[in-house]
Amino acid sequence: MAAMPTPKRIAITGAAGQIGYSLLPRIAAGEIFGPEVPVILQCLEIPPALGALNGVRMELEDCAFPLLEGIVCTDDPNIAFKDANLCLLVGAKPRSKGMQRGDLIRENGPIFVGQGKAIDENAAADVRVVVIGNPCNTNCLIAMSSAKRVPATNWTAMTQLDHNRAIAQIAGRVGVEYRDVSNVVIWGNHSNTQFPEWRHAKVKDQTASAAAADEAWFKEAFISTVQERGKAVIEARGLSSAMSAANAAMDHARLLFRGTPTGEWTSMAVCSDGSYDIEEGLISSFPVTCDGSGNWSIVQGLDFDDFGRERLEITVNELKQERDAVTDLLS
Ligand code: NAD
Ligand code: LMR
Repeated sequence: MAAMPTPKRIAITGAAGQIGYSLLPRIAAGEIFGPEVPVILQCLEIPPALGALNGVRMELEDCAFPLLEGIVCTDDPNIAFKDANLCLLVGAKPRSKGMQRGDLIRENGPIFVGQGKAIDENAAADVRVVVIGNPCNTNCLIAMSSAKRVPATNWTAMTQLDHNRAIAQIAGRVGVEYRDVSNVVIWGNHSNTQFPEWRHAKVKDQTASAAAADEAWFKEAFISTVQERGKAVIEARGLSSAMSAANAAMDHARLLFRGTPTGEWTSMAVCSDGSYDIEEGLISSFPVTCDGSGNWSIVQGLDFDDFGRERLEITVNELKQERDAVTDLLS
């Protein structure tokens, strides 16, 4: 029998939370790195949640996942991030009814200073970091700025949930399966200023615009539904999205490590290199392709009409404002 490959070490913060509960079994089942690659879960929590985390550990053990070679549960970031190949930074407060995601910035932002440093000092040389805790773009900026050793290209924040929401809205409108829709783009911030762009999206072999034949729907209901979907879930569930967020985190990480399909892209918030005139250094959502080894590239050459350019500016301006509100946390 062929020897098993070296296990991948995956750090998950906020592992005893709502998203963690949906995320951990899927990672342990091998959905990120594939069915041949063993995994070690390195779970970080705050001290009051260690008891609950121990219960999650018991449940993971009771799943007897063939690929799961270890579970670390700790409140010490230096232990959680030790030799990690992938860090999923989920641990942060979710918003409640009536709040915007940006309202969390002063409460959650400081978490990412210490975690950025601990990643810098402990993670594997090839570490990739995905920030999910909100406001995720700016939290990613904070963590990245505390971690000088880890290249900026190894940091991403999650807008895959918005991307999936946009696909679902178009599929529902046109009356096709979700799998028939591709190449939507989420631009900017994971907030209600984000710009979900449909003009390059495809429904099978058609443009989404041709398939839906209703530009007014795209400009109004489509954009606002995607922008406000997180709020709608909070209002309905009384809690922020968790299953769909964990699913999006799985999609994001899987695409990063196993690649985007030929001819398709996804949306990820990454450190801007100035593409599309988005200020260099901001963590903005872009259309990206992934080569399957943890690397992404921004898709170039997409055009904007005046409507789109205006919306892009609004969301990029919000990213600048969020950055300016946390200058004391940036190093
Ligand atoms: P939750 O409250 O159920 O769980 C969060 C967990 O994080 C808790 O168990 C808490 O103890 C832990 N935690 C808090 N501070 C921590 C720290 N310093 N270190 C380690 N763990 C810590 O929340 P949730 O529903 O799992 O959501 C987590 C975050 O993800 C929220 O900020 C939420 O807004 C965000 N979120 C983002 C997206 C996205 O698309 N980017 C989608 C959904 C939720
Ligand atoms: C979401 O988009 O569902 C999450 O970011 C949670 C929220 O606060 O909206």
